[in-house]
Amino acid sequence: MSNKLGIKPIDYYDYQGKNVLLRVDINSPIDPATKKIVNENRINKSIPTIQYLLDAGAKVAIIAHQGDTLDYQNLIPLTEHAEKLSEKLNCRIDYIDDVCGPAACEKVKNLKVGEAVILGNLRYLTEEISTFEEVVPLKAEEMLSTYLVRNLAPLMNYYINDAFAAAHRNAPSMVAFQQLLPSAAGPLFFNEVTALSKVMETPDRPAVFVLGGAKISDAFGMMKQVLSTGKADKILACGVTGEVMLMAKGTDLGSVKTKWIKERGLEKFLQPSKEYLRDYPEKIILPEDFAYEAQGQRCEININQLPVDQMYMDIGEATISKYQAIIADAGTIFVNGPAGAFENPLFEKGTKDIWTAIASAKGYSVVGGGDSVSAAQKFCQTQDFGYICTAGGAMVRFLSGVKLPLIEAMKKAK
Ligand code: 3PG
Repeated sequence: MSNKLGIKPIDYYDYQGKNVLLRVDINSPIDPATKKIVNENRINKSIPTIQYLLDAGAKVAIIAHQGDTLDYQNLIPLTEHAEKLSEKLNCRIDYIDDVCGPAACEKVKNLKVGEAVILGNLRYLTEEISTFEEVVPLKAEEMLSTYLVRNLAPLMNYYINDAFAAAHRNAPSMVAFQQLLPSAAGPLFFNEVTALSKVMETPDRPAVFVLGGAKISDAFGMMKQVLSTGKADKILACGVTGEVMLMAKGTDLGSVKTKWIKERGLEKFLQPSKEYLRDYPEKIILPEDFAYEAQGQRCEININQLPVDQMYMDIGEATISKYQAIIADAGTIFVNGPAGAFENPLFEKGTKDIWTAIASAKGYSVVGGGDSVSAAQKFCQTQDFGYICTAGGAMVRFLSGVKLPLIEAMKKAK
């Protein structure tokens, strides 16, 4: 285990009979209609860490978050996650739909040696979101007064964080417990940091970033970083990000899509889009066409023919060809966020063709983020990619040299 960072590894402590608070990232891609988990990659990756603690005789309280297909819809309980963990660990992991209230605390107090429980979705707590969104910028010591930390820290002997995928989130569950409890990072954290450090030090140029998906705040955060630090030679915008950027450039997307964008409060990304397009006109490549559904068929339309009142759900063939050519010439390709709604067969083409191009490209590819990894597993052989990372937002920020709140907090741990 690499430990250049001076962060303690999980095997540093003896957990026999001790209460351990374990923060993992098992935030998984969800089917938009059924709200069921569609990819278990992050759950699978958390198994060795939980198993290690159970075998070491710990009483484990697991904390985690789960989002929805869009940003900030954090309403999904972790019931299914508990079921999947129970199956994979071959032992019962209970779920309690309470993050740190009296019921959760009682459950934790009653844990026996070698038992684990998952507490409620952390994102039920506004303090978990508002802090990293800078709506309520709490100082590190102020985070100790949050509901989560006040209630859980006194019940615990150790804090383990193995949630590298959320390392960019300055939330109490990620950065506060280290101030109070002896802390260590889990094996997945070290694996990801070691693998990504190698790519970050010597990325072959040109470095191409494929930024798509519906998590538009993440794509914009990344874009800002990789453009301003000079890490990106080309950004291939797709998904909702591509649509909003086209809108910022003056393209009328039609009333249906425009209404959809406005209703989700995504107009706030128009101004940053204009700035990036003004400052980096050569580097940002935008879609040339879109796909939508008409009478059960996939139809494509060039942006020159807009506006039409359709709900675009994928990029079209002209965009795919243009992006494929750029990917073929890339030295390094970083992917975060699919090109369209690939779970629907009518709209899988963009993601499938782009991912296939990345898998067969000569450049080194790094795929990150839940949906992007799902697409890689669905359409390609995962071994054809250079590295598959559990993290999306955290990965790209790490690669752009941004200091990640989790890493900073772990370095300063008690
Ligand atoms: C991710 O999916 O990138 C991590 O789980 C973090 O999720 P978030 O973007 O909702 O903070």
